[in-house]
Amino acid sequence: MDNKKTLFSGVQPSGRFNIAGYIGAVSQWVKMQEKYNCIFSIVDYHAITIKQDPQVLKRQIKEVAKIYLAAGIDPKKSIIFQQSAISAHTELTWILNCYGVRMSDLNKMTQFKDKAGKNQESASVGLFDYPVLMAADILLYNTNLVPVGEDQKQHVELARDIAKRINFQFGDLFVVPQAIIKEEGARIMSLLNPKNKMSKSDTNQNNSIALLDDIDLAKKKIMKAVTDSGSEIVYDKEEKPAIANLLTIYAQLGNREIPRLVKDYQGKGYSDFKKDLAEVVAKFLSDFQTKYNKISDKEVEDVLNEGAKRAEKLAKYKLDEIKNAIGVK
Ligand code: TYM
Repeated sequence: MDNKKTLFSGVQPSGRFNIAGYIGAVSQWVKMQEKYNCIFSIVDYHAITIKQDPQVLKRQIKEVAKIYLAAGIDPKKSIIFQQSAISAHTELTWILNCYGVRMSDLNKMTQFKDKAGKNQESASVGLFDYPVLMAADILLYNTNLVPVGEDQKQHVELARDIAKRINFQFGDLFVVPQAIIKEEGARIMSLLNPKNKMSKSDTNQNNSIALLDDIDLAKKKIMKAVTDSGSEIVYDKEEKPAIANLLTIYAQLGNREIPRLVKDYQGKGYSDFKKDLAEVVAKFLSDFQTKYNKISDKEVEDVLNEGAKRAEKLAKYKLDEIKNAIGVK
């Protein structure tokens, strides 16, 4: 073993992977591969906390793996695997359910409240328990760092609490992980309603831009994005949330700095700004899709098989240690 820190993160293969997940999470992973031992999962057992069509789910699992590769995750450096291939994740979830987490912890989770809406009583137990599966993902690999978007912060905090609680009972079993959240781009907002976050599960596709969207369609979505009152391009999240969000997307996908963009657009209107942004998004998508389309299904299969083998070894070792500590082995 080297003494690099371990980094773990994942994406659910649900809905259509959009630029928000790319900006908030995946884009920062790529740069971290040299410095850390990285493990990236396609978290399919998280996806089934909401009903999925089996055929669509199968396709989306492959799609997320291809997106990882196209984004620049290198399977020679990082482990890429499908969560359900490693049963230790669900086994550890059970142990954490029993020893590490209380009903009151999960009752506080804002994402559960958002997703279950008014129907909390009829939501699945899986949806309620989702953050514990996420904690298991993280803790199983002695993870130090978890790069995620802002919406996952509360879940990582819970993983920290669970780790501390179990360490208190059984000695130092778990590394206490830390979230890494970008200063800019950790919360990309919806194009038509900048008060809501851009989300894969949004039924209105005009709110988000998928990485695999048709390029002309993506441009149209930018042109249709809502703007704020007034006409100046300034970065003010409170007063101009729509423009602040579009500036963030521009800066992130176009590799620019927001203050510089604001300067460049002084005296210009929303329409010029959106036209340029549409081109930036189009160029980004076009480059991305060119890389994506070069990756074969066979390559993805091989990467996932190899990744599962590597993850399995680490996971089994850790799970045995935990089973031993709690007295079942
Ligand atoms: P998921 O699949 O919803 O999202 C994947 C990643 O994208 C980030 N993200 C965003 N970032 C910026 N702006 C947005 N509007 C936006 N929407 C999503 C998410 O924060 C996330 O980083 N529970 C996780 C997956 C998971 C996981 C884990 C992550 C399961 N186990 C262990 C880290 C470690 C989720 O549902 O992400």
